[in-house]
Amino acid sequence: MALYKEGLAFGYIQGTKYHRDKPLKDHLGPIPAVQSCKTYPDAERLKLPQPDLNHPANLWQCMTRRRSERDTTTEPLSLNELSTLLWSAQGVTARAGIHLLRTAPSAGALYPFETYLYVDHVEDIPQGLYHFDVASFALERLKDGSFNRDMTKACLGQPVVRRAAVVFIWTAMMLRCMVKYRDRAVRYIPMDLGHVCQNVQLAATAMDLGSCPIGAFFDDDINRLLEIDGEDETALYLITVGRM
Ligand SMILES: Cc1cc2nc3c(=O)[nH]c(=O)nc-3n(C[C@H](O)[C@H](O)[C@H](O)COP(=O)(O)O)c2cc1C
Repeated sequence: MALYKEGLAFGYIQGTKYHRDKPLKDHLGPIPAVQSCKTYPDAERLKLPQPDLNHPANLWQCMTRRRSERDTTTEPLSLNELSTLLWSAQGVTARAGIHLLRTAPSAGALYPFETYLYVDHVEDIPQGLYHFDVASFALERLKDGSFNRDMTKACLGQPVVRRAAVVFIWTAMMLRCMVKYRDRAVRYIPMDLGHVCQNVQLAATAMDLGSCPIGAFFDDDINRLLEIDGEDETALYLITVGRM
């Protein structure tokens, strides 16, 4: 057999297929239920302004104009722009039982990820690391100061990260999805985040901001910065946003 077929990429797809004639069975044992949204109760909270949903934008034009932009300037974003980007990523738009439905779809309405921000230059928000509290549409302040060098180094020195006004960091909350979908969760979590990231890119385009998805980073470096374990919760996807 070709060696590449024995690798992780093939194993991942083959090992998570549903088969009509085979019952769903695995050896994962019990998977503990985890909270549906993470919060940092001891952190200082910054309430975000309402997103600007009256901003004129034509969906078809935004799709046509959307590009990954790496040459953003160091001009700051406004707090309203940041709020609108966060709402596009994870704004709550309806409730269904216990589920807070959002601007992007998610398998089983589980939303198995968390949104963190590294704010470098956004008006009215001190530089630092933040966690986004979905339910109350607020930022939780985790660490103050400039982490520009750490972020850029963690992202393989990419200049787009150094220039960004803000970097969104999405972590996978593995158990939140595995509790229902077991190993197949490994397909759904990146799919879910793809939708979220596209929403942010389209919103950035609508506001004439530049954004660039980032998949190339040293996982442990980002996890260490966020003080997460890299197993039950691990960084998966980032996007930079800045003014053009
Ligand atoms: C999963 C994923 C990971 C990516 N990672 C990076 C990255 O680390 N650095 C970068 O400059 N662009 C990255 N990109 C952007 C792609 O290079 C870009 O989408 C592609 O070249 C197509 O260009 P467009 O987005 O302007 O249409 C990534 C895109 C995706 C979807």
